[in-house]
Amino acid sequence: MDIDELRSDTPGCAKVAHLNNAGAALPPRPVIDAVAGHFELESLIGGYEAAERNEAPIARFYDAVARLLGARPDEIAFVENATRAWDMAFYAIPFADGDRILTTTSEYSSNAIAYQQVAAAKGAHVEVVPDEADGTLSLDALEAELAKGDVRLVSLNHIPTHNGLVNPAAEVGRLCREHGVLYLLDACQSVGQLAMDVNEIGCDILSATGRKYLRGPRGTGFLYVRHGILQTLVPPFLDLQAADWKAPDGFVMRDDAQRFETWERHVAGQIGLGVAADYAAGLGMAEIEDRVLGLAARLREELAARPGVTVLDKGARPSGIVTFTVEGRDPAAVKAAAREAGVNVNVTNPVSHGYDPHARPAAVRASVHYYNTDEELERLLSVLP
Ligand SMILES: Cc1ncc(COP(=O)(O)O)c(C=O)c1O
Repeated sequence: MDIDELRSDTPGCAKVAHLNNAGAALPPRPVIDAVAGHFELESLIGGYEAAERNEAPIARFYDAVARLLGARPDEIAFVENATRAWDMAFYAIPFADGDRILTTTSEYSSNAIAYQQVAAAKGAHVEVVPDEADGTLSLDALEAELAKGDVRLVSLNHIPTHNGLVNPAAEVGRLCREHGVLYLLDACQSVGQLAMDVNEIGCDILSATGRKYLRGPRGTGFLYVRHGILQTLVPPFLDLQAADWKAPDGFVMRDDAQRFETWERHVAGQIGLGVAADYAAGLGMAEIEDRVLGLAARLREELAARPGVTVLDKGARPSGIVTFTVEGRDPAAVKAAAREAGVNVNVTNPVSHGYDPHARPAAVRASVHYYNTDEELERLLSVLP
């Protein structure tokens, strides 16, 4: 990877040391040009006319995302963010009284709220599977719960929002297949960060966002639904993109993943997300993963050596998300000091991960991407004790 070249392809790198990639990463020039170019075209010739002219890059989105994940283009839907993508699939699952939903302690709170809503409405039960000592989901505990029966869904995050752990997604997939149980993976923080293949992972459904490690535009996301289960899921909302109206009073749903879409959308964003997926694939996901994990490991090592700094990340091989606290300093004050020094970090707090019994009240989150440098990490360290 030529980091200098990649940085010069990323205008934001000249402005700031951006260590908030788990929030929203800096987009590269081709993504910026694609989004701005389409919006400009809309302004000049009209939105519908621009969509007609840019039919090919709009359609490219499906191929690009499918290629990145080892999926089929007809298994991909464009959705405005990861939460709605996840929702569209989750609320399509026909839960019944007594169904069990198994999840993890590190689950994202929006997902947890949806579990509780469905539990109250349908009589399903939400159960949080215990962790291993290293904080990742315990496979033994998951297997024991699956063996008890009545599990309708295993649903977890690949990488949580609030610490660096990476859940054993493929091992979970193997267990779900053995037990014939549906598997939904929230890959919001892992797509664009880790090399991933949906067939190796074995998930039935996967949701992700555009703006984080994929470096796409905000207001974009996508859903993957395995071809074999598409027909079993009826989306909670249907419009004339998702279904065909059959006069006088009927409709037929699409038989591909676009049944989870809406007709109106951020077209420039869809084009931009396709470009972002191609950009990541062009660099190579294995190379991206190595670089991100290497930078994060270096940062953790430096942080751990600082007096009063506690690194909070769990897992045997943590991700690009580095979380820590500084004794006697509010995480918000650390964020503000970093901003003064031209470094973007974020603060995580328990509203986003309500099930986690070990989570601190708040922590600093420095999430690195491949375009970050050692000098940028040093700049963050320079504001710490
Ligand atoms: C693990 C995880 N899941 C889901 C989401 C929600 O993504 P979005 O904001 O695109 O809906 C986030 C956002 O931070 C996340 O970290």
